[in-house]
Order: sequence, then structure tokens, then C-alpha cells
Amino acid sequence: MRRSVVFLLVLLILGPALLFAGGRQEAAEEPSGDLKGEVEVLHWWTSGGEAAAVEVLKELLEAEGHTWVDFAVAGGGGDAAMTALRSRAVAGNPPTAAQVKGPQIQDWAAEGFLTNLDPVAEAQGWDNVIPEVLADVMKYEGHYVAVPVNVHRINWMWVNPDVFEAAGAEIPTTWEEFEEAAEKIEAAGYIPVAWGGQDWQEATVFETILAGVGGTDFYVETMVDADPEAIDSPKMIEVLETLRMVHGYTDPGAPGRDWNMATSMVIEGDAAMQFMGDWAKGEFVAADQKADEDYIAASAPQTAHQFLFNVDSFIMFEVDDPADKAAQRAMARLIIEPEFQEVFNTYKGSIPVRMDMDDEPFDIPAKKSMRDFAASADSGDLVPSMAHEMAVDRAVRGAILDTITTFVNSPNISPREGAKMLADAVRGAAR
Ligand code: BGC
Repeated sequence: MRRSVVFLLVLLILGPALLFAGGRQEAAEEPSGDLKGEVEVLHWWTSGGEAAAVEVLKELLEAEGHTWVDFAVAGGGGDAAMTALRSRAVAGNPPTAAQVKGPQIQDWAAEGFLTNLDPVAEAQGWDNVIPEVLADVMKYEGHYVAVPVNVHRINWMWVNPDVFEAAGAEIPTTWEEFEEAAEKIEAAGYIPVAWGGQDWQEATVFETILAGVGGTDFYVETMVDADPEAIDSPKMIEVLETLRMVHGYTDPGAPGRDWNMATSMVIEGDAAMQFMGDWAKGEFVAADQKADEDYIAASAPQTAHQFLFNVDSFIMFEVDDPADKAAQRAMARLIIEPEFQEVFNTYKGSIPVRMDMDDEPFDIPAKKSMRDFAASADSGDLVPSMAHEMAVDRAVRGAILDTITTFVNSPNISPREGAKMLADAVRGAAR
């Protein structure tokens, strides 16, 4: 069902209550800090690294006397979680907090569901520590309605150095070098690329290739502005040719595989590399692997100067009980506190959303990510991830994901046809 239809349904069912809630968004009466309440938190952090990370928040909240009710919906990339969230909202019973990202935050706020977090933001000075490009995503009409948790980078390549060495291959920095390396790795009896055959994972690899092959301007034209003319172009054909070439170095078990299972293949030494966002690092950390020894976190080929960002965030729904509201406020505050930012991000693979934190306690990949974030912001190569819902609206993203997955899994569709299909799909979705 299209998002707009869902919201219409929600409005019809909850109309009067929403109007009331909308009014309260402005009133922002603060509950007493002594009250102890409950938060029900919807998220999709269920892999080893993710679960360890979310536990940090739960423990901090419980240490303040509040109760955490876990509403975890498994499914990488969060599409299943978003479906669950919409059905709870349609039933008039949304959770207290939900992991929602990018433009969807604005949609929920526009419908009057969300509580105004300005009092917490002002008390902690969010505007002074969160970069504007990220803070803007958290605001609706100038008010904070979501709390950012972290910054993930998409365009990574997770490498098993032993497999590369055994195959006599070099870690690639271009797609041409990738092909040379992949040939050697395959000849040595390893799987070159650990691939998770799910639409959002294929879109993750697609946008990474697109950024490198097409360049940052092309990325913005196609994945942010979703311009059909830019999409149906020779550059896109080249991107799809590269995607097909990379897909040729995966194994027959890829269809349907979860991303963390693909990461395990690299950890176990069955596969040489995986293209995935840095939540994959959480799996290396959970498996006690050391960066630059057991694994290497490198920028994906041709994207060293780029940073495709993906910010996790929680929206908070309007609640009646002052104790639950106090718990909700506590959750928002704890998320921004440096203690949480340091420990959570170490497990999660991401970097802090606060820019005033020392990088000293962080590991090698996180330090690199922090440096690359700053450098890409300066050079104009910091761009939002399409696959991870930071760039285009849900309908356009859905159209891109469907087309890319169809292309990847249909060798009879040529890259030229694929580029045209993609442009048509985006045109149809944007209507
Ligand atoms: C989220 C990450 C999560 C990953 C895999 C991404 O969209 O931002 O927090 O770990 O999906 O589920």
C-alpha cells in the first residue's frame, strides 16, 4: 500500500485524536524528572553487533529506573519494521519510540503523531553539537521531532586480508582492480564477494558503485533528485555494467541471504570481501576481530573521497501518561550524551552524531570514518544514502529497489534496458 494511502487511513481513524496531539506538540509541558515510566521501542537491531548496541541504551534507561519494552522487528534495512510500525499506528496504538529515518520523519510529523523534543534539545544544546545537515533531517517546521543516534557510512568494503594473501591479490581501489583481484580469488577457490540477495542490500551495493563510477554530481542527480533524464544515460549503463560484473563474483547461495550472514562469510574466510555499510563492523567487533589484523575496512573502489551517510534516529510519539513521557524524554537525552555515543557506536560500527567528541577511544575504522566524514563535508562529497532512506521518498526508493533487484537477478536484461527501466520506474513513482 502506498504511504499516502496509509496516512489517509490513519487520519480517518485517528483524526480527532491527532488534532489534539498536534495542539500539544506546541505546548510541550515538561514532566517531572522524578517520574519513572515505560518506553516501548520499535527497532530492527537484531544481529549480534546490533543487539549489543541497543542493549547499551536499554541499560542506561533502566539504570534511571525506567522500563524498556522491546519491540524488535527483524529484517535488515528496516522495511519489515516500517510495515509493523504503520499497522500499529493505523490501529491507533503506536509504540512510544520508533527507529525511523530521513524524509519519513517529516511525514510522521506532518500527520501530527510526534512529540516536540525541543525542551530536551535546548537543555542539551543539540544545535551546537549536531551538524546542521543532520539536524535538519530531525526537525519539522524548525522543531526537533526525532533524536539522531549515529552516523553510518555506506560505501565500505570489508576485507579478509588472509584470503587476499592466499590468492595473491591486492586490495582494489578501482573496479578494474577489483576485477583482477576477483579473478585471482576465484581461481584460488574462494568466493570473491559475500553477497546478500535482498533488495535493500543490492541497492546498497548499487548506490556505492554509482557514486564511484558516476561521481558525486551524478549521484545527486540520480539518487537524490531522482532525475529520470540523468538516470537514462550512458553513465547509468556503465554503473549497471559494473554492478553486473561484481554480481558475477558471488556464490549461488546469495539469494535471500541476510547481510550479517554475508559478513560471517568474510569473518570465516570463505569470502574475500563484502560491500556493506559499517553496521557490518559491529559483526567483526562482536566476533572479537581486530581491524587491520583480522579484517580491513577500506573505502569501496573509487569512493575514497565520498561519504554516503545514513543516520539512525528515533521518532517519539505523543503519549498521555506523564511518567511515560518522562521515560521518553530520558531516552532522548541519554542518546545524545557522550557516554552513550561512545559505547553504542563502538558496538554498532557507526560514528557519533556529535561532532565535539574526541576520536581517541574509537577503533581504526571509526577514526577513518570520522576523518572521511569531515573531509567529504568540506569537499562537497557528503551525500545521503538512497538505499537507507535518507534521500528520496518511500515510493521512489521502492521503485529503485524493485528495479535494481530485478536487474541483478535477470541476466537477460541488458544494462541499457536496465537504465531505461529505472528511469521509467522513477517517473511512475514520482507521479
Ligand atoms: C540501519 C542500520 C542497520 C542496518 C541493517 C540500516 O538501514 O541504518 O542501523 O544496522 O540497516 O539492518
